[in-house]
Amino acid sequence: MPTAIITGANSGIGHALARILISEVSKNPISIAPSLSPFNSLTSSIQNYTVLATDQTLGLPLTSLPCETHQLDVSSLLSIQSFAQCIGADTPIDLLLHVAGVMERPEDDALHTVDLDGLQRTFAVNTFGPLLLTQALLPNILKASSPKVAVVSSRVGSMTDNTSGGQYAYRASKAGVNSLFKSMSVDLREDGVVVLVLHPGIVKTGLDPRHKEGVEVEGAVEPDDAARGLWDVLEGKGMESTGKFFHRTGEELPW
Ligand SMILES: NC(=O)c1ccc[n+]([C@@H]2O[C@H](COP(=O)([O-])OP(=O)(O)OC[C@H]3O[C@@H](n4cnc5c(N)ncnc54)[C@H](OP(=O)(O)O)[C@@H]3O)[C@@H](O)[C@H]2O)c1
Repeated sequence: MPTAIITGANSGIGHALARILISEVSKNPISIAPSLSPFNSLTSSIQNYTVLATDQTLGLPLTSLPCETHQLDVSSLLSIQSFAQCIGADTPIDLLLHVAGVMERPEDDALHTVDLDGLQRTFAVNTFGPLLLTQALLPNILKASSPKVAVVSSRVGSMTDNTSGGQYAYRASKAGVNSLFKSMSVDLREDGVVVLVLHPGIVKTGLDPRHKEGVEVEGAVEPDDAARGLWDVLEGKGMESTGKFFHRTGEELPW
C-alpha cells in the first residue's frame, strides 16, 4: 500500500491533515477519542495510504492518531537521519507533507528586534528542515510510482504580495522554502515527482500569538477547514501544477 509521511502532526493544521488522511484512507470507521476528532464518524471507501505521522513532540494528539507515529525534529539532521534509517531505503514514499513550522512573536521579528538566534531557529524549521528531510527521503520518494512532495508555506513569503513588511525571519524563511521547492520541482520533474507549495490561509492555531490570546483575526478559519482545503488542492493537482504556489482555495499565488 502507498505510504504518506506528514510532519508537524501533533497540533494545528498538521494534526487536522493527518486525521483527514487517515479518514480518507480507512476502509472502516476510525476510532479516535471523540474529544480529539470530529472525523471519527467518517467512513471512506478507498484505502490509499499507510500514514506515518510525525512531530518533534510525541504529544497526546499525535500518539492518539490511529496510525504509525514517530518523533521527528525537522531542525535536527541527526533526527532526520535516524527517521530515514528507521523507514529504510526500500520503502516507497508516495506523499511527503511538510507541515511543521514555527513563527517568532511579530514584535521580536521586526526590523529593530530580529536577531541571529530568531533567524536561525526559524530557518532551521521552516526552510532547511523541509529540504533536508526531502533529501534524506529522496531514495524512497523516487521508488514510488507517482510521488508528491508538498510544503505548507505561507503567503507572507510572496514578494509580490508583501505590502505590510515586518516578520523578517518568518517571511524570509517562507520565501526561502518557496525558492527551494521551486528548484526541487524543476530537478524532480523528469522523475515524475509533483512538488507543490501551499498556503493554508489564516488559521486559528497556536502558531500565531493572536489566536492564543483569543484575538479575533478577520478571515481566520479552523484547522479542520484549512486542512480540508489543502487536501482538496493536494489531491487535485498533478504534474501540470508542479512548482506552483497555491492557496487552500486552489487559487494560484504569485511568488
Ligand atoms: N496558522 C496560520 O495562520 C498559518 C498561516 C500560514 C502558514 N502556516 C503554516 O502552517 C504550518 C502549520 O502551522 P500551524 O498553524 O498548524 O501551527 P502549530 O499548531 O503551531 O503547528 C506546528 C507544528 O509544528 C511542530 N514543530 C515545530 N518545530 C518543529 C520541529 N523542529 N520539528 C518537527 N515539528 C516541529 C510544532 O510542534 P510543537 O507544538 O512541539 O512546537 C507543531 O506541532 C506551519 O508551517 C505554518 O508556518 C500557518
